[in-house]
Amino acid sequence: MLFSFAIVSSFLFASVVLADRYLENHQSRLHKRLEQFAGATSDGVLYSYNWAGAVWQKDNGTFTSVTGDFTVPVASGQNGSAASVWVGIDGDTCHDVILQTGVDFVVINDTATYRAWYEWYPEYDYFRDLSISAGDNIRVNVTALSTTSGIAIVENLTNGQSAHKYLHSTLPLCGQNAEWIVQDFLQDGKQAPLANFGSVTITDAAATGPGIIYTPDGATIVEMQQNKTLTSVSISGSRVTIEYL
Ligand SMILES: *[C@@H]1O[C@H](CO)[C@@H](O)[C@H](O)[C@H]1NC(C)=O
Ligand SMILES: *[C@@H]1O[C@H](CO)[C@@H](O)[C@H](O)[C@H]1NC(C)=O
Ligand SMILES: *[C@@H]1O[C@H](CO)[C@@H](O)[C@H](O)[C@H]1NC(C)=O
Ligand SMILES: *[C@@H]1O[C@H](CO)[C@@H](O)[C@H](O)[C@H]1NC(C)=O
Ligand SMILES: *[C@@H]1O[C@H](CO)[C@@H](O)[C@H](O)[C@H]1NC(C)=O
Ligand SMILES: *[C@@H]1O[C@H](CO)[C@@H](O)[C@H](O)[C@H]1NC(C)=O
Repeated sequence: MLFSFAIVSSFLFASVVLADRYLENHQSRLHKRLEQFAGATSDGVLYSYNWAGAVWQKDNGTFTSVTGDFTVPVASGQNGSAASVWVGIDGDTCHDVILQTGVDFVVINDTATYRAWYEWYPEYDYFRDLSISAGDNIRVNVTALSTTSGIAIVENLTNGQSAHKYLHSTLPLCGQNAEWIVQDFLQDGKQAPLANFGSVTITDAAATGPGIIYTPDGATIVEMQQNKTLTSVSISGSRVTIEYL
């Protein structure tokens, strides 16, 4: 038993390394703004082909920081399928700009690899010092220091280690949107098939700005739809749950 377990784990480890090297060399990724269909329905839900989760829509200058915690899910699916869990500022009602950070997962040859990343749309990069696995308990936080500078922080709540990156952009944030999202992102310019991520619950979700603090409670629910509805989102206080259907 133990012996075969060791063989299986070293095989898995080797395939994770292989798959990650493959991704390192072959892939560009982009987490675009909310692409929505024909507006909100009567129940206030937005349907999008690339986002699922909770989004606040407020005036300019409302939000300067967004945070949330989640456990990295086990991801599975067809070869090349992918998804990402992240928090961010803007990307909905504001022009084409988002400050965001989160964890991507991509399934290659039945093995999921995970990456913590940050993006000031359209500039993407990832934290090379954090090797993420399913089950890791992660806190993500973006904070705008001005409309053109900010910081992305990813913290491992299990061991307290964290990584951060200062970001600058010529594309100014509006501070209109705060969001907690599972995204189907672009790989090499193409929409990846959505990986099965089971269910993700973002806890201790909060968004702050000058004189305000919001939880996701009351924010607009966004469901992902690609010919059929792929997610089921619920909000309860400071928790957002995004279930893969
Ligand atoms: C995936 O599997 C294919 C075919 O079995 C193999 O050629 C390829 O090297 C594998 N790639 C990775 C990243 O494991
Ligand atoms: C994000 O992290 C910064 C630095 O630790 C903190 O000051 C800020 O309150 C956090 N944001 C939220 C919304 O909690
Ligand atoms: C899975 O996709 C990767 C990247 O496109 C490719 O290298 C690999 O050969 C594919 N594996 C199979 C089993 O088709
Ligand atoms: C988080 O901490 C746990 C416990 O030390 C460790 O097993 C895991 O690899 C860490 N994950 C990251 C992304 O640092
Ligand atoms: C909102 O902020 C953006 C970016 O900072 C700016 O371009 C836009 O003019 C602002 N809109 C209003 C109504 O103030
Ligand atoms: C949705 O349906 C159209 C036409 O029926 C098809 O071309 C497209 O590939 C489908 N998209 C997805 C994501 O399944």
